[in-house]
Amino acid sequence: MHIAVLAGDGIGQEIMVEALRVLGAMDLPDLCLDHADVGGAAYHKHGHPLPPETLELVEAADAVLFGAVGDPSCDNLERHLRPEQAVLGLRKEMETFANLRPAKMFAGMEDASGLKPEIARTIDIVIVRELNGDVYFGEKGMRKTADGLREGYDVMSYDESEVRRIGHVAFKTAMGRGKRLCSVDKANVLETSQLWRDVMIELSAEYPEVELSHMYVDNAAMQLVREPKQFDVVVTGNMFGDILSDAAAMLTGSIGMLPSASLAEDGSGMYEPCHGSAPDIAGEGSANPLATILSVAMMLRYTLNVPDAADAIEAAVSRVLDQGLRTPDIFSEGCTPASTVEMGDAVVEELVAAMAS
Ligand code: IPM
Ligand code: MG
Repeated sequence: MHIAVLAGDGIGQEIMVEALRVLGAMDLPDLCLDHADVGGAAYHKHGHPLPPETLELVEAADAVLFGAVGDPSCDNLERHLRPEQAVLGLRKEMETFANLRPAKMFAGMEDASGLKPEIARTIDIVIVRELNGDVYFGEKGMRKTADGLREGYDVMSYDESEVRRIGHVAFKTAMGRGKRLCSVDKANVLETSQLWRDVMIELSAEYPEVELSHMYVDNAAMQLVREPKQFDVVVTGNMFGDILSDAAAMLTGSIGMLPSASLAEDGSGMYEPCHGSAPDIAGEGSANPLATILSVAMMLRYTLNVPDAADAIEAAVSRVLDQGLRTPDIFSEGCTPASTVEMGDAVVEELVAAMAS
Protein backbone atom coordinates (compact mmCIF):
# COMPACT_ATOMS: atom_id res chain seq x y z
CA MET A 1 0.00 0.00 0.00
CA HIS A 2 1.24 3.44 -0.92
CA ILE A 3 0.34 6.37 1.28
CA ALA A 4 0.95 9.91 0.12
CA VAL A 5 1.65 12.11 3.13
CA LEU A 6 0.78 15.76 2.60
CA ALA A 7 1.32 17.69 5.82
CA GLY A 8 0.70 21.15 4.33
CA ASP A 9 0.69 24.41 6.25
CA GLY A 10 0.66 25.72 9.79
CA ILE A 11 -0.05 23.10 12.44
CA GLY A 12 -0.36 20.52 9.62
CA GLN A 13 3.35 19.86 9.99
CA GLU A 14 3.32 19.25 13.76
CA ILE A 15 0.23 17.10 13.90
CA MET A 16 1.40 14.95 10.99
CA VAL A 17 4.61 14.06 12.84
CA GLU A 18 2.54 12.63 15.70
CA ALA A 19 0.11 10.85 13.39
CA LEU A 20 2.99 9.15 11.59
CA ARG A 21 4.54 8.06 14.88
CA VAL A 22 1.25 6.41 15.78
CA LEU A 23 1.05 4.73 12.38
CA GLY A 24 4.66 3.58 12.79
CA ALA A 25 3.89 2.08 16.20
CA MET A 26 1.27 -0.16 14.57
CA ASP A 27 4.10 -1.91 12.74
CA LEU A 28 2.01 -2.80 9.68
CA PRO A 29 3.77 -4.67 6.91
CA ASP A 30 4.07 -3.39 3.32
CA LEU A 31 3.36 0.25 3.94
CA CYS A 32 5.19 2.73 1.79
CA LEU A 33 5.01 6.40 2.76
CA ASP A 34 5.82 9.15 0.26
CA HIS A 35 5.90 12.81 1.30
CA ALA A 36 5.00 15.77 -0.88
CA ASP A 37 4.29 19.49 -0.59
CA VAL A 38 0.80 20.96 -0.66
CA GLY A 39 -0.94 24.26 0.05
CA GLY A 40 0.89 27.47 0.83
CA ALA A 41 4.08 25.53 1.49
CA ALA A 42 3.89 24.12 -2.05
CA TYR A 43 3.04 27.51 -3.52
CA HIS A 44 6.11 29.11 -1.94
CA LYS A 45 8.36 26.28 -3.14
CA HIS A 46 6.88 25.34 -6.53
CA GLY A 47 4.60 28.25 -7.43
CA HIS A 48 1.40 26.17 -7.14
CA PRO A 49 -0.60 24.84 -4.14
CA LEU A 50 -1.00 21.46 -5.86
CA PRO A 51 2.12 20.99 -8.01
CA PRO A 52 2.37 18.23 -10.66
CA GLU A 53 4.86 16.18 -8.60
CA THR A 54 2.37 16.07 -5.72
CA LEU A 55 -0.48 15.09 -8.03
CA GLU A 56 1.62 12.32 -9.54
CA LEU A 57 2.32 10.89 -6.11
CA VAL A 58 -1.34 11.09 -5.17
CA GLU A 59 -2.41 9.33 -8.35
CA ALA A 60 -0.13 6.41 -7.54
CA ALA A 61 -1.25 6.24 -3.89
CA ASP A 62 -3.96 4.10 -2.29
CA ALA A 63 -4.54 6.68 0.40
CA VAL A 64 -3.64 10.26 1.10
CA LEU A 65 -2.94 11.38 4.63
CA PHE A 66 -3.50 15.09 4.71
CA GLY A 67 -2.64 17.66 7.40
CA ALA A 68 -4.08 21.10 6.75
CA VAL A 69 -3.71 23.96 4.32
CA GLY A 70 -4.19 27.68 4.68
CA ASP A 71 -1.55 30.37 4.82
CA PRO A 72 -2.39 34.03 5.46
CA SER A 73 0.51 35.11 3.24
CA CYS A 74 -1.44 33.65 0.30
CA ASP A 75 -4.73 35.44 1.02
CA ASN A 76 -4.29 37.96 -1.76
CA LEU A 77 -3.26 35.52 -4.49
CA GLU A 78 -5.56 34.79 -7.39
CA ARG A 79 -8.10 32.19 -6.32
CA HIS A 80 -6.59 29.29 -8.29
CA LEU A 81 -3.26 29.76 -6.47
CA ARG A 82 -4.67 29.85 -2.93
CA PRO A 83 -3.86 26.92 -0.62
CA GLU A 84 -7.52 25.87 -0.26
CA GLN A 85 -7.60 25.10 -3.97
CA ALA A 86 -5.25 22.19 -3.31
CA VAL A 87 -7.93 20.48 -1.21
CA LEU A 88 -10.58 21.02 -3.84
CA GLY A 89 -8.21 19.86 -6.59
CA LEU A 90 -7.37 16.68 -4.68
CA ARG A 91 -11.02 15.91 -4.00
CA LYS A 92 -11.83 16.29 -7.69
CA GLU A 93 -8.73 14.47 -8.92
CA MET A 94 -9.27 11.48 -6.62
CA GLU A 95 -13.07 11.60 -7.06
CA THR A 96 -13.53 11.35 -3.33
CA PHE A 97 -17.22 12.17 -3.39
CA ALA A 98 -18.14 10.80 0.02
CA ASN A 99 -16.92 12.66 3.06
CA LEU A 100 -17.57 10.97 6.40
CA ARG A 101 -17.29 13.26 9.39
CA PRO A 102 -18.06 11.52 12.66
CA ALA A 103 -18.83 13.68 15.68
CA LYS A 104 -18.77 11.58 18.82
CA MET A 105 -18.35 12.56 22.41
CA PHE A 106 -15.43 10.89 24.15
CA ALA A 107 -16.19 9.96 27.75
CA GLY A 108 -14.82 12.54 30.16
CA MET A 109 -14.75 15.32 27.56
CA GLU A 110 -18.22 16.71 28.34
CA ASP A 111 -16.78 19.75 30.12
CA ALA A 112 -15.07 20.89 26.93
CA SER A 113 -18.39 21.14 25.09
CA GLY A 114 -20.46 24.33 25.12
CA LEU A 115 -23.54 22.19 25.66
CA LYS A 116 -24.77 21.02 29.04
CA PRO A 117 -22.89 17.82 29.95
CA GLU A 118 -26.04 15.68 29.97
CA ILE A 119 -26.77 16.75 26.39
CA ALA A 120 -23.16 16.68 25.22
CA ARG A 121 -22.81 13.09 26.45
CA THR A 122 -25.36 11.90 23.87
CA ILE A 123 -23.58 13.12 20.71
CA ASP A 124 -22.84 10.32 18.27
CA ILE A 125 -23.40 11.46 14.71
CA VAL A 126 -21.89 10.74 11.33
CA ILE A 127 -22.26 13.48 8.78
CA VAL A 128 -22.05 12.17 5.22
CA ARG A 129 -21.16 15.17 3.11
CA GLU A 130 -21.15 15.11 -0.70
CA LEU A 131 -17.74 16.40 -1.72
CA ASN A 132 -17.47 16.60 -5.51
CA GLY A 133 -20.36 18.81 -6.56
CA ASP A 134 -22.75 21.57 -5.52
CA VAL A 135 -21.99 25.27 -5.58
CA TYR A 136 -18.33 24.45 -4.83
CA PHE A 137 -17.71 23.12 -8.33
CA GLY A 138 -20.33 24.91 -10.43
CA GLU A 139 -19.64 27.68 -12.90
CA LYS A 140 -18.38 30.72 -11.06
CA GLY A 141 -16.99 34.10 -11.85
CA MET A 142 -17.12 37.84 -11.62
CA ARG A 143 -19.01 39.88 -14.18
CA LYS A 144 -20.65 43.25 -14.66
CA THR A 145 -24.38 43.72 -14.53
CA ALA A 146 -26.17 45.74 -17.24
CA ASP A 147 -25.88 48.72 -14.87
CA GLY A 148 -22.13 48.30 -14.65
CA LEU A 149 -22.18 46.86 -11.11
CA ARG A 150 -19.72 44.13 -10.18
CA GLU A 151 -21.47 40.81 -9.68
CA GLY A 152 -20.07 37.55 -8.28
CA TYR A 153 -21.82 34.29 -9.12
CA ASP A 154 -21.51 30.60 -8.24
CA VAL A 155 -23.89 28.09 -9.74
CA MET A 156 -25.39 25.38 -7.50
CA SER A 157 -26.43 22.13 -9.12
CA TYR A 158 -26.58 18.37 -8.61
CA ASP A 159 -27.57 15.80 -11.16
CA GLU A 160 -29.45 12.74 -9.97
CA SER A 161 -26.50 10.36 -10.36
CA GLU A 162 -24.44 12.49 -7.98
CA VAL A 163 -27.22 12.47 -5.40
CA ARG A 164 -27.77 8.75 -5.83
CA ARG A 165 -24.15 7.77 -5.25
CA ILE A 166 -23.83 9.78 -2.03
CA GLY A 167 -27.28 8.55 -1.02
CA HIS A 168 -26.13 4.93 -1.24
CA VAL A 169 -23.11 5.67 0.97
CA ALA A 170 -25.37 7.37 3.50
CA PHE A 171 -27.98 4.61 3.60
CA LYS A 172 -25.24 1.99 3.97
CA THR A 173 -23.61 3.99 6.74
CA ALA A 174 -26.98 4.15 8.50
CA MET A 175 -27.41 0.37 8.07
CA GLY A 176 -24.13 -0.12 9.92
CA ARG A 177 -25.26 2.10 12.81
CA GLY A 178 -28.61 3.15 14.25
CA LYS A 179 -30.55 2.84 10.95
CA ARG A 180 -31.75 6.45 11.08
CA LEU A 181 -30.89 8.80 8.23
CA CYS A 182 -31.71 12.50 8.15
CA SER A 183 -31.32 14.15 4.75
CA VAL A 184 -30.66 17.87 5.08
CA ASP A 185 -31.59 20.28 2.30
CA LYS A 186 -33.27 23.59 1.54
CA ALA A 187 -36.09 22.20 -0.58
CA ASN A 188 -38.42 25.04 0.43
CA VAL A 189 -36.26 27.41 -1.66
CA LEU A 190 -33.83 25.53 -3.93
CA GLU A 191 -34.54 23.35 -6.97
CA THR A 192 -31.23 21.56 -6.36
CA SER A 193 -32.59 20.55 -2.96
CA GLN A 194 -35.93 19.43 -4.37
CA LEU A 195 -34.13 16.99 -6.65
CA TRP A 196 -31.93 15.92 -3.73
CA ARG A 197 -35.01 15.15 -1.64
CA ASP A 198 -36.83 13.33 -4.45
CA VAL A 199 -33.82 11.09 -5.11
CA MET A 200 -33.35 10.30 -1.40
CA ILE A 201 -37.00 9.25 -1.20
CA GLU A 202 -36.60 7.05 -4.32
CA LEU A 203 -33.50 5.42 -2.83
CA SER A 204 -35.16 4.71 0.48
CA ALA A 205 -37.19 1.96 -1.23
CA GLU A 206 -33.93 -0.02 -1.48
CA TYR A 207 -33.25 0.37 2.25
CA PRO A 208 -36.56 -0.44 3.94
CA GLU A 209 -34.88 -0.89 7.33
CA VAL A 210 -33.56 2.67 7.39
CA GLU A 211 -35.87 5.33 8.75
CA LEU A 212 -35.43 8.33 6.42
CA SER A 213 -36.32 11.85 7.52
CA HIS A 214 -35.81 15.26 5.93
CA MET A 215 -34.87 18.55 7.48
CA TYR A 216 -34.25 22.05 6.17
CA VAL A 217 -30.69 23.12 6.79
CA ASP A 218 -31.53 26.09 9.01
CA ASN A 219 -33.63 23.89 11.24
CA ALA A 220 -30.90 21.22 11.21
CA ALA A 221 -28.40 23.79 12.52
CA MET A 222 -30.79 24.59 15.34
CA GLN A 223 -31.66 20.96 16.14
CA LEU A 224 -27.97 20.06 16.21
CA VAL A 225 -27.31 22.39 19.11
CA ARG A 226 -30.70 21.82 20.75
CA GLU A 227 -30.96 18.05 20.82
CA PRO A 228 -28.08 16.35 18.99
CA LYS A 229 -29.12 12.83 20.01
CA GLN A 230 -31.98 12.93 17.50
CA PHE A 231 -29.33 12.46 14.77
CA ASP A 232 -27.67 9.20 13.82
CA VAL A 233 -26.50 9.68 10.21
CA VAL A 234 -26.95 12.99 8.39
CA VAL A 235 -26.56 13.21 4.62
CA THR A 236 -26.23 16.54 2.90
CA GLY A 237 -24.64 18.46 0.04
CA ASN A 238 -21.19 19.93 -0.11
CA MET A 239 -21.95 23.44 1.14
CA PHE A 240 -24.42 22.56 3.91
CA GLY A 241 -22.13 19.72 4.99
CA ASP A 242 -19.19 22.08 5.28
CA ILE A 243 -21.10 24.28 7.68
CA LEU A 244 -22.95 21.66 9.72
CA SER A 245 -19.86 19.52 10.21
CA ASP A 246 -17.95 22.37 11.84
CA ALA A 247 -20.86 22.96 14.19
CA ALA A 248 -21.18 19.25 15.00
CA ALA A 249 -17.45 18.98 15.60
CA MET A 250 -17.43 21.85 18.05
CA LEU A 251 -20.28 20.32 20.05
CA THR A 252 -17.93 17.52 21.01
CA GLY A 253 -15.62 20.00 22.66
CA SER A 254 -13.07 20.85 20.05
CA ILE A 255 -12.70 20.70 16.32
CA GLY A 256 -9.20 19.47 17.18
CA MET A 257 -10.62 16.02 17.89
CA LEU A 258 -12.49 15.30 14.68
CA PRO A 259 -11.15 13.12 11.87
CA SER A 260 -12.59 12.67 8.41
CA ALA A 261 -12.50 10.23 5.54
CA SER A 262 -13.12 11.22 1.94
CA LEU A 263 -13.82 8.13 -0.10
CA ALA A 264 -13.88 7.31 -3.78
CA GLU A 265 -15.89 4.53 -5.38
CA ASP A 266 -12.82 2.25 -5.62
CA GLY A 267 -12.03 2.41 -1.88
CA SER A 268 -9.13 4.82 -2.17
CA GLY A 269 -9.42 7.84 0.04
CA MET A 270 -8.06 10.96 1.57
CA TYR A 271 -7.91 11.21 5.36
CA GLU A 272 -7.66 14.52 7.15
CA PRO A 273 -8.57 16.30 10.34
CA CYS A 274 -11.67 18.52 10.03
CA HIS A 275 -9.78 21.53 11.40
CA GLY A 276 -7.64 23.94 9.44
CA SER A 277 -4.01 25.06 9.59
CA ALA A 278 -4.48 27.37 12.63
CA PRO A 279 -1.65 29.75 11.66
CA ASP A 280 -2.09 31.62 14.97
CA ILE A 281 -0.74 28.69 16.98
CA ALA A 282 1.53 27.05 14.36
CA GLY A 283 4.97 26.13 15.65
CA GLU A 284 3.99 26.50 19.30
CA GLY A 285 3.67 22.78 19.89
CA SER A 286 0.21 23.28 21.34
CA ALA A 287 -1.96 21.90 18.52
CA ASN A 288 -4.14 18.88 19.21
CA PRO A 289 -2.87 15.94 17.10
CA LEU A 290 -5.84 13.68 17.92
CA ALA A 291 -7.93 14.56 14.85
CA THR A 292 -5.07 13.50 12.59
CA ILE A 293 -4.29 10.42 14.68
CA LEU A 294 -7.97 9.43 14.46
CA SER A 295 -7.83 10.08 10.70
CA VAL A 296 -5.06 7.46 10.54
CA ALA A 297 -7.50 5.09 12.23
CA MET A 298 -10.13 5.85 9.60
CA MET A 299 -7.55 5.17 6.88
CA LEU A 300 -6.76 1.80 8.41
CA ARG A 301 -10.45 0.97 8.55
CA TYR A 302 -11.66 2.17 5.14
CA THR A 303 -8.74 1.89 2.72
CA LEU A 304 -6.23 -0.47 4.31
CA ASN A 305 -8.91 -2.82 5.62
CA VAL A 306 -7.33 -3.47 9.00
CA PRO A 307 -10.25 -2.62 11.30
CA ASP A 308 -8.52 -4.15 14.35
CA ALA A 309 -5.68 -1.68 13.99
CA ALA A 310 -8.19 1.16 13.67
CA ASP A 311 -9.99 0.01 16.83
CA ALA A 312 -6.65 -0.17 18.66
CA ILE A 313 -5.82 3.46 17.85
CA GLU A 314 -9.26 4.70 18.84
CA ALA A 315 -9.08 2.78 22.11
CA ALA A 316 -5.62 4.19 22.82
CA VAL A 317 -6.94 7.74 22.28
CA SER A 318 -9.82 7.04 24.65
CA ARG A 319 -7.44 5.80 27.33
CA VAL A 320 -5.19 8.84 26.96
CA LEU A 321 -8.20 11.10 27.43
CA ASP A 322 -9.27 9.01 30.42
CA GLN A 323 -5.89 9.72 31.99
CA GLY A 324 -6.85 13.41 31.85
CA LEU A 325 -4.23 14.49 29.33
CA ARG A 326 -5.40 17.58 27.42
CA THR A 327 -3.98 19.94 24.81
CA PRO A 328 -5.03 23.59 25.39
CA ASP A 329 -8.08 23.41 23.07
CA ILE A 330 -9.70 20.74 25.28
CA PHE A 331 -8.22 21.68 28.62
CA SER A 332 -10.46 21.91 31.65
CA GLU A 333 -9.74 22.22 35.35
CA GLY A 334 -8.18 19.23 37.05
CA CYS A 335 -6.70 17.86 33.80
CA THR A 336 -3.04 17.49 32.89
CA PRO A 337 -1.84 19.95 30.25
CA ALA A 338 -0.11 18.35 27.28
CA SER A 339 1.77 19.59 24.25
CA THR A 340 1.33 18.20 20.75
CA VAL A 341 4.30 15.87 21.23
CA GLU A 342 3.25 14.77 24.71
CA MET A 343 -0.17 13.84 23.37
CA GLY A 344 1.47 11.84 20.56
CA ASP A 345 3.82 10.18 23.07
CA ALA A 346 0.92 9.14 25.26
CA VAL A 347 -1.03 7.56 22.39
CA VAL A 348 2.05 5.67 21.18
CA GLU A 349 2.75 4.45 24.73
CA GLU A 350 -0.83 3.21 25.13
CA LEU A 351 -0.65 1.42 21.80
CA VAL A 352 2.65 -0.24 22.55
CA ALA A 353 1.39 -1.33 25.99
CA ALA A 354 -1.81 -2.73 24.46
CA MET A 355 0.11 -4.67 21.81
CA ALA A 356 2.50 -6.11 24.41
CA SER A 357 -0.34 -7.40 26.59
C1 IPM B 1 -13.35 21.66 4.86
C2 IPM B 1 -12.75 23.00 4.52
C3 IPM B 1 -12.66 23.12 3.00
C4 IPM B 1 -14.08 23.10 2.48
C5 IPM B 1 -11.90 24.36 2.51
C6 IPM B 1 -10.49 24.39 3.04
C7 IPM B 1 -11.88 24.44 1.01
O1 IPM B 1 -13.47 24.02 5.10
O2 IPM B 1 -12.75 20.62 4.50
O3 IPM B 1 -14.39 21.62 5.50
O4 IPM B 1 -14.76 24.12 2.42
O5 IPM B 1 -14.52 22.02 2.10
MG1 MG C 1 -15.03 23.34 6.39
